[in-house]
Amino acid sequence: MTSYAVIGASRGIGLEYVRQLATRPDSIVFAVVRNAATSTHLQAAIKGHTNVHVLEADVVDYNSLERAAKEASEVTGGKLDYLIHNAAGAGDPVLRRVSFGEFPNMEELDEDLITTFQINTLGVIHSITAFLPLLRAGSAKKIVVISTGGAHVQTVYKQGAANMAAYHISKCAAYMATTKWAINLQDEGFVVVSLTPGLVDTSATQHGVGDLQAAHARLVAVEEEFAKKGIPVVLEMPEESVSKQLKIIDGLKPSDNGLLLNHYTGKEYSL
Ligand SMILES: NC(=O)c1ccc[n+]([C@@H]2O[C@H](COP(=O)([O-])OP(=O)(O)OC[C@H]3O[C@@H](n4cnc5c(N)ncnc54)[C@H](OP(=O)(O)O)[C@@H]3O)[C@@H](O)[C@H]2O)c1
Repeated sequence: MTSYAVIGASRGIGLEYVRQLATRPDSIVFAVVRNAATSTHLQAAIKGHTNVHVLEADVVDYNSLERAAKEASEVTGGKLDYLIHNAAGAGDPVLRRVSFGEFPNMEELDEDLITTFQINTLGVIHSITAFLPLLRAGSAKKIVVISTGGAHVQTVYKQGAANMAAYHISKCAAYMATTKWAINLQDEGFVVVSLTPGLVDTSATQHGVGDLQAAHARLVAVEEEFAKKGIPVVLEMPEESVSKQLKIIDGLKPSDNGLLLNHYTGKEYSL
């Protein structure tokens, strides 16, 4: 049996990870969500898959992650092979559109950055810490943190993105936090990586998206904008992106430890 925990599995990319991992023979999948009752897309996706266990935790709340790890431990006898940390938030929906100097006031700027840092950066440290005893007892010893091109400073500069400050800063810090774990754990045989999923149309499982075609068209415009700036991005559906990500995860090797990997190439992310 190979066991996987996907943190942030209610919708989007995390949900697709659960969907694909659930079909693997001899897999045990822990889908960690903030609220199991409202995770309706997840419930529909795992119907009939007795190898999927839904656990509740909020990555901001360390104690809830420890409880989830304890519940997972009871199923597997204290082990976990793969931790896939996917949970993240993009920051306040209005403030993410503005750049420094355009925030209404410093209190709102502080609050947006701190709240997003708690989810996107501390959340990574919390979930790795909570599941580490299980991962140490597992046989794969792989930790994957879902990152973004927005964590890569040169990409954001080339993109000319002065907005999305809370998201980019917190994901950049999450990349550094993941690197710290990679250094900490390499002597124990772990491989700890950050992995960019590309541009993924997750509209179908988002709350309140409304017109799905319009949402898709907005993402096509983003793809075109990246292309104009010479940043190679291809808009994908969750199925395609996660299937590529899983190929990379299946092939992780010690020399990948600490890298930010690009899911399009399987190699270190660069421009
Ligand atoms: N989609 C893209 O194009 C894209 C591009 C680059 C990078 N990424 C990265 O890919 C990952 C997934 O993105 P996505 O587009 O699938 O996002 P999404 O659809 O917004 O899903 C985010 C997931 O994170 C969970 N989450 C948020 N805050 C949480 C918390 N405090 N505790 C536990 N879970 C929490 C959400 O749960 P709830 O349902 O409870 O809110 C949801 O399951 C993120 O790390 C993101 O940065 C995505």
